[in-house]
Amino acid sequence: MKPDTLSEDEIRQRIDALGPWFHNIDLRGIPTAPRHFLGDYPNVKWRRFSSVIPDSLQGMSVLDIGCNAGFYSMEMKRRGADRVLGVDTDEEYLAQARFAAEVNGLHIEFRKMSTYDVGELNEKFDLVIFMGIFYHLRHPLLALDLIYEHVARDLLLFQSMQRGGSGVDTIERNYDFWTTEPFDSPGYPKLHFVEHKYADDPTYWWVPNRACVEAMLRSAGFRITAHPETEVYLCRRAARPQADGPVYPSRGNGR
Ligand SMILES: C[S@@+](CC[C@H](N)C(=O)[O-])C[C@H]1O[C@@H](n2cnc3c(N)ncnc32)[C@H](O)[C@@H]1O
Repeated sequence: MKPDTLSEDEIRQRIDALGPWFHNIDLRGIPTAPRHFLGDYPNVKWRRFSSVIPDSLQGMSVLDIGCNAGFYSMEMKRRGADRVLGVDTDEEYLAQARFAAEVNGLHIEFRKMSTYDVGELNEKFDLVIFMGIFYHLRHPLLALDLIYEHVARDLLLFQSMQRGGSGVDTIERNYDFWTTEPFDSPGYPKLHFVEHKYADDPTYWWVPNRACVEAMLRSAGFRITAHPETEVYLCRRAARPQADGPVYPSRGNGR
């Protein structure tokens, strides 16, 4: 049966069958994750920064990396984006996203793909969304480098959990070898390595402080244009401060 003709009971059954959900999405009045530990998430977060996204995205293309059940993909389609592509490595989340978009009557493409493989898309997007995935990556700077090189045409919407100091030190362009104090300051850019788990989750790898988020975005070639919410940044693709881009390791055996 087509999702847009499902009864309330049928929607409830499909929500249960496709769960558990990380995104709480309203499907014709039925919430997918009503007991989310962060409240009505990500709607509560979206409301704090939605004003920095253009009201109309007509004529624009959007790539939502780590789209989960498609909350942000759907909001972008509601703002009129011509094309929205959501990618995620998790088939179960992609199944939720496809169902939610269909129930809401929104035409969005969802594809299984890792952020490390975005070069395969051979396409640039006017807006790339990279929300809530940075700290789940073993190679976060590589991911930003690949986004810059392959898929970002203009805007990047970025969010990362942050831990550590929220200050941002003024960093000199160089320090001599015997200068060590800046590294001990809470406002120096720092990535905290999670060897095992955080919040019972083994997919956390590197949790940055605020200074680190901002420095890494700049280093990857993104100019911060708005910081509407503690964890959220809107950036524009700019000139890269350094010439070196993503690494492409050789794989041995002459390949
Ligand atoms: C915390 S959720 C964030 C979901 C959504 N972007 C948001 O901000 O609400 C992280 C998502 O990233 C996905 N993910 C993790 N590693 C990934 C990778 N290498 N490439 C693409 N998606 C990935 C997970 O499956 C999950 O859906």
